[in-house]
Amino acid sequence: MSLTVFRKLPSLQSAIKINQTIFAQSSLVVTRQASSSTNLKDVLSKIIPEKQKEVTEFRKEYGNTKVGEVTVDMMYGGMRGIRGLVTETSVLDPDEGIRFRGFSIPECQKLLPKAPGGEQPLPEGLFWLLVTGEIPSQEQVNDVTKEWNERADIPNHVITMLNNFPSTLHPMSQLSAAVTVMNSESKFAKAYADGVHKSKYWELCFEDSMDLIAKLPTVAAIIYRNLYREGNPPDPIDKKKDWSWNYTSMLGFDNPDFVELMRLYLTIHTDHEGGNVSAHTTHLVGSALSDPYLSFAAGLNGLAGPLHGLANQAFLVWTTKLQESLGGEVSDQQLRDFIWNTLKSGQVVPGYGHAVLRKTDPRYLCQREFALKHLPNDPLFKLVSQLYKVVPDILIEQGKAKNPWPNVDAHSGVLLQYYGLKEMNYYTVMFGVSRALGVLASLIWDRALGLPIERPKSFDTPHLKKIAMAAASKK
Ligand SMILES: CC(C)(COP(=O)(O)OP(=O)(O)OC[C@H]1O[C@@H](n2cnc3c(N)ncnc32)[C@H](O)[C@@H]1OP(=O)(O)O)[C@@H](O)C(=O)NCCC(=O)NCCS
Repeated sequence: MSLTVFRKLPSLQSAIKINQTIFAQSSLVVTRQASSSTNLKDVLSKIIPEKQKEVTEFRKEYGNTKVGEVTVDMMYGGMRGIRGLVTETSVLDPDEGIRFRGFSIPECQKLLPKAPGGEQPLPEGLFWLLVTGEIPSQEQVNDVTKEWNERADIPNHVITMLNNFPSTLHPMSQLSAAVTVMNSESKFAKAYADGVHKSKYWELCFEDSMDLIAKLPTVAAIIYRNLYREGNPPDPIDKKKDWSWNYTSMLGFDNPDFVELMRLYLTIHTDHEGGNVSAHTTHLVGSALSDPYLSFAAGLNGLAGPLHGLANQAFLVWTTKLQESLGGEVSDQQLRDFIWNTLKSGQVVPGYGHAVLRKTDPRYLCQREFALKHLPNDPLFKLVSQLYKVVPDILIEQGKAKNPWPNVDAHSGVLLQYYGLKEMNYYTVMFGVSRALGVLASLIWDRALGLPIERPKSFDTPHLKKIAMAAASKK
C-alpha cells in the first residue's frame, strides 16, 4: 500500500474527504485507502503491520534524536511539559484543544455517523476513529454497536458484589471494584497464562477492550439504580439500539434530547491525549501486562480524584453551595465575593484551569452550544454562563492559575441536572464509561507497537542536587 506524507493538518473541507486518511502524531498526515470491511478487528489487523513498519523505520532513523529537555522544576512540578509518552489516539493543543486522530470536536460532530434522526456523533464512531485513524461509515459504526450489544452480558458474581455494596460507598469505588473483578473474563490474562506469543497481545487486548466497553453501561446502570432507584435492576439492553441509548435507558431515562446529549457526552469525554492521570495510569499499569480490566480500573481510580474527573461533581457541589448561600438571581459582585472566598480559603475553583490547555476547553464550548439550543433559559445554565464571565478575570487577578478558562467539568453537570440526572456523586461514573473508549483504544496500540514496561528513572533530592550542580558548573 502506498503511503503519502503531508506536513499539515487538514482544513474541515479536506477533512470531509478523509475517509481515506490516517492522522499520525506530530501533524504528519498519512493517506491510505479507506477500509471497506465493517469488522473493526479485520480493519485493525491490516493497519497494524503498516504502522509497526512506520514506527520501526522512524526509530531506526531518528531513534537517538533529542526531542526535549528536563529541568529540576519539571521533576518537582508533576513532569509538566516533559515529552515522555507516545499516544496515537489524540493530541491536545494548548490553544486549540483536543484533536482525535487529527479531528477537532466540531469536525467529529460533523463527520462521524449519527443515530437515525440524531445530530450528535455516536461514540461507537469515535471509538472506530481512535482505534483505526479512519472516519467510519454508518455500516462500520452499526457493526460496532452490534458487537457491543452481543458482548454486554456481565457475570453474576459482579452483580452480586454490586448488590452487596453499602449505599455509602462512592459510585466510583463501586465502578472500579466491578471492573477489577470482571477480569475473571479476561481473554488476555488467560492466554498469557497459557503462554501466548507476544505478537498476539494486541488481539487479546482488543477482545478484552471490546468486551469491557460493552459491559460498562450495564455495570454503571446497576450502580445508579442500586444507589438512587431502590435497587430496581435495569431492563436488559435493546440489541437494536446504540450504546448511548441503552445506557440512558438502563439508567431510567427516555427523553430523546437526553439520549442525544449522552451521545455527545460519551463522545467528548473519551480521550485527552496520554499524559492525563486516567490515560497515563491505564497505560502504565498495562505496560506491566496487567490485563485491560486491571489497567482500566487503575485509570478509573485516578479519574476519581477531585483534580481530575471528580471535578465535574466538585463543580456542581460548589455551584449548588453558591446558589444556597446567595439565593436566586445573583449579581456579578456577589459572585466575585463568593469566588474570592473560595480562593482565600485555600481551595481551587472547580472546573477552571488545566495542566495543558490555555484557552476555553472545546469540550466546554460544545456543551455550551448544546445548552444554548436546548435549555437557554435554565437558571443553572444562566449561572454557569455568568461564572464564565466572572471567574477568568478573578483567576487572572489572583495570578496563580496558568489557565483561567473553564474546562469540560464546568459544564457537564448543568446539562445532566436539566434532564433529571441530579445525583452529582454519580457524574464521574459517566465520565469513566466514556473514558474507557480512549484509554482502551490506546492500550490496544500499546500492545500492537510492543511498548515495553514503563520505568522512568527517579532520584532523591541529594542525588538530584549533585546532578544539577555538575550540569550548572559545565555552563
Ligand atoms: C486542572 C488543574 C489541576 C491543573 O493544575 P496545574 O497544571 O498545576 O495548574 P497551574 O500550573 O495553572 O497551577 C498553578 C497554581 O494555580 C492554581 N490553580 C490552578 N487552577 C486553579 C483554579 N481553578 N482555582 C484556583 N487555583 C487554581 C494551582 O492550584 C496552583 O497553585 P499553587 O501554586 O498554590 O500550587 C488545576 O487547574 C485545578 O486544580 N483546577 C480545578 C480542578 C479541575 O477543574 N480539574 C479538572 C481538570 S480537566
